[in-house]
This record gives sequence, C-alpha cells and structure tokens, in this order.
Amino acid sequence: MQITGNTILITGGTSGIGLGLLDFFYKNENKIISISRDESKIVRLRDEYPDVDFQNFDLNNEKSVLDLIAHCHTHYPKLNIIINNAGIEKNYLFNENVDSQIIKDEIQINFISPILIMNELKDLLLTKKEAAIINITSALAFYPKTNAAVYSATKTGLHQFTIALRDQYRNTKVRVIEVIPPLTDTPLTTNNPHKKISVQQLVDEFAKDFQKGKTTIYIGYSKWVYLLYRFSPKLLRLLMFKRQSHV
Ligand SMILES: NC(=O)c1ccc[n+]([C@@H]2O[C@H](COP(=O)([O-])OP(=O)(O)OC[C@H]3O[C@@H](n4cnc5c(N)ncnc54)[C@H](OP(=O)(O)O)[C@@H]3O)[C@@H](O)[C@H]2O)c1
Repeated sequence: MQITGNTILITGGTSGIGLGLLDFFYKNENKIISISRDESKIVRLRDEYPDVDFQNFDLNNEKSVLDLIAHCHTHYPKLNIIINNAGIEKNYLFNENVDSQIIKDEIQINFISPILIMNELKDLLLTKKEAAIINITSALAFYPKTNAAVYSATKTGLHQFTIALRDQYRNTKVRVIEVIPPLTDTPLTTNNPHKKISVQQLVDEFAKDFQKGKTTIYIGYSKWVYLLYRFSPKLLRLLMFKRQSHV
C-alpha cells in the first residue's frame, strides 16, 4: 500500500504512539485528521503540524463520536485509512472498591467507540482503490496484566474483532491491520517501572512491516509473547506472573 497521498483519521494523535504515527504519516505527505480531547496539546501541535486537522472529539461521549463521524463524511470524502489508536488504561483490583464508571470508560474508549467508528465510516473506505483499518491492540491481548483486567480484556476483544473483520473484508480493497505493541515509553506508562521500547522503535518497525504489506504487525518482544501464548501458555503465565508480582 502507498505510504503517501492517503487521507488518514488517527484517534489520539496528540500523544505517545498516536503522535509517533502521525509524525510518520505527516512526513510522508498524507492528509491527517487527528482527534483527541486535551485542548492544550492540540493548540501546541497545531504549530508543529500546520496541515493536520486537529479536532477535539471525545470517544467517551456518544454525541461527540457521532460528530466526529459527521466531520469525516462532510469534510473528508477521500478518507481511506482509519487508525484506531486512542486508549486509556486504569489499574485497579477487584478485591477493592472499584468505581463502575471507570470500567465503563475503559470499555467505551478502547473497544466500543473504535468499532462504531469502523462501522459508520466503512462506506468511505469500501469505495476506495486502496484502504486500510489499523487497530492498535497490545501484547496484553494474549496475556492480561493482573491489575489491568478490563484494559487487557478490551485489547483481547479488539484483537479478535480485527481478525474477524479481516476475514469479512478479504474480498474488498480494505486491508485490516493489527499493530501489537509491547510496553512502550509513553505518558500512558509513566508509572510502569519495567523496560520499555521507544515510540521511535515502534514507528520504525511499523513502517517497515506496513510497507511489506503485513497485516499482523508484532512490535519488539510482543512476537515472543504471542508465540508463548500459542505454544507454551504455562511458561507465559509463569513469566508474566513473576513480572507482575509487585501488583
Ligand atoms: N504505551 C504502551 O505501552 C502501549 C502498549 C500496547 C498498546 N498500547 C496502546 O496504544 C494506544 C496509544 O497509547 P499511548 O501509550 O500512546 O497512550 P497516551 O500517550 O496516553 O495517548 C493516548 C491518546 O489517546 C487519546 N485519548 C484518550 N482518551 C480519549 C478519548 N476519550 N477521546 C479521544 N481521545 C482520547 C489521548 O488524547 P487526550 O490526551 O486528549 O486524552 C492521547 O492522544 C492505546 O490504545 C494503548 O492501549 C500502548
């Protein structure tokens, strides 16, 4: 697929992995629409990326998601790539008091809204000569982080959805791609003490595999997590449990 001349919607393009992908596609001369909530980040980035359409839409608000969809239909009939990147992770244990709203927020932002966006914008993609949906899941789709049970479940859900959608779209021009990052150094993981890869490493690996036409893009050690999950789940459990013993 061409890495230039596309019209791309990126959710969460103002921080971490989303910003890394935005920078990559921007430098390769694509039209980009980035959506996120924090206005201060949007204002700062508008100077750095003057041709990007930074919009304030909230994936945790149904009306805002509908407005985002209308914005794309009205202004971007050429849209041919959607990158479902925005996500939140909350850490909590179910043997303590958990605010149900936090659970709903994680499921809405990480799982429900991306699926609604794919559904409501599919008409734009299915009519293009080249199109792609790029879903950012996680190595935690294969084995959960103990104190991120809901987050991990949303990533497993998006992983399964992506595989099924790829099968459904096999006779169309829409490539359905999954990017599976390991622990990556972003604002989302500031409090995580474990070794992280950089956003630049992630973007470099993504760019290589994207241009090769791969549809499942394992970043860094996430391939090993997948292989252990497939062939030695007991060993994976042992390693992950040891790693998370501080939880
Ligand atoms: N970092 C990792 O180790 C890692 C590993 C595997 C997978 N991932 C996945 O990669 C994706 C990006 O994560 P990241 O680490 O880059 O996180 P990040 O730096 O915290 O960035 C998250 C982005 O999502 C946006 N966002 C969050 N909630 C939103 C909402 N309700 N509506 C619209 N935008 C919203 C944020 O915008 P605002 O600031 O405006 O809220 C921000 O631009 C997530 O899906 C995450 O699950 C991350």
